[in-house]
Amino acid sequence: MILITGGAGYIGSHLNKKASAEGYETVVLDNLIYGHKDFLKWGNFHKVDLADVDALRSIFQKYEIDAVMHFAAFTNVGESVSDPQKYYQNNLKNTINLLQVMLENHVKKFIFSSTCATYGLPNKIPITEDHPQNPINPYGKAKLMVEKILEDYSNAYNLKYVSLRYFNAAGADPDVEIGEWHLPETHLIPLVLDAAMGRRDHVKIFGTDYDTPDGTCIRDYIHVMDLADAHLKALQYLEDEKRSEVFNLGNGNGFSVREVIKKSEKVTGKPISIIETDRRPSDPPVLIGSSIKAGKILNWHPKYKNLEKIIESAWKWHQKIYL
Ligand code: UFG
Repeated sequence: MILITGGAGYIGSHLNKKASAEGYETVVLDNLIYGHKDFLKWGNFHKVDLADVDALRSIFQKYEIDAVMHFAAFTNVGESVSDPQKYYQNNLKNTINLLQVMLENHVKKFIFSSTCATYGLPNKIPITEDHPQNPINPYGKAKLMVEKILEDYSNAYNLKYVSLRYFNAAGADPDVEIGEWHLPETHLIPLVLDAAMGRRDHVKIFGTDYDTPDGTCIRDYIHVMDLADAHLKALQYLEDEKRSEVFNLGNGNGFSVREVIKKSEKVTGKPISIIETDRRPSDPPVLIGSSIKAGKILNWHPKYKNLEKIIESAWKWHQKIYL
C-alpha cells in the first residue's frame, strides 16, 4: 500500500491514477483545503490534516503501508513571502509529523516532492543536482529544510528517501479525468488558457527586461504524467537499491513567457491579449533543469517533450472544467 499525502491535489492525483492503473493499492490523505473531492477517484481516502498526529497514527494502524509519497504542501511562492508561518507550519512542521509517525511504524520508504525553487538564482544552466541550493523564498527554504532533514534521518534511522526536484509542472491527464485546477490560480499556463477562453481579458507578463532573448522569464515545463511516472520509478529504485537519492525532473528545454503565450494561441486558435507589467519579486530569469541523472539511474525519459503537446492536454482539461 502506498500512502499518498495531497492525493486530491494536482500532481498527487495524477500519481494516484497512474499508481492505481499499474496495480498499486493506495490510500490518499488530504485536508481538502486546496485539493478537489472530484479528484478522489482511485484507492482509499481519508480527510486528514498532517498537523493531526493522532489521526496520522490511526491511518498507519489501519493500513499496511510500504511507502509514503508526500505531495501535500502549499505551493504559492508569493504567499510564502507574505505569510511564511503558513509555509513553515504546513510544509515543514507537518512533514516532520509525517516522518515521526512513519518511523514509529517502521515505514522506511519516502518519496518527497521537492522543487527547483530550492536552487534559488542559478549560476549555471542547465541546473544539475549538485548546483548550490540557496532558495530565495520561504517556499523554497522549507522544501530545502525537509531535504536536509531527510539526509539526517536517512543516516540515523535508515529511512530511505528520494527527493524529486520538479521544474514547472504543467498539462493534464490525457483521459481528461483530472488536471491543473488551483483556486486562486497563479500559474502561467492555466492563466493563459483562461485568457484564450475569455474568462480573463488579458494575461500579465511579469517583466520584459530580463537578460533573455525576448526579455521574459524562461522556464522548463514538465508534464504532470511524466512526473507521476518518475514517482513510480523512484519507488522501484528504493525497492531495488535501498539507497537515498535526489533527482531533478524537467524536460531540459526552456520556454519564455512570450513563447508559452504564442504556442497557446496556436493550440487554442484564439488570440490572447497581454499586458506587460513589472517583474514579479524573486523570479529567477531562467530555470532549466538537467534530468540526465534521472534518465541514467531511474531510466526516466519524459514522453511529453513538446510544449505544444503539454499545452494541448492542459487546454482539453481547461475546456472540460470551464466550458
Ligand atoms: N508569469 C507571468 N504572468 C503570470 C503568471 C506567471 O508572466 O500571470 C511568469 C512568471 O513570472 C514566471 C513564469 O511565468 O516567469 C512561470 O510562472 P509560474 O507562476 O507558472 O511558475 P513559477 O516559475 O513561479 O514556479 C515556481 C517554481 C516551482 C514551484 C512553483 C510553485 O519554479 O519550482 O513556483 O508554485 F514549484
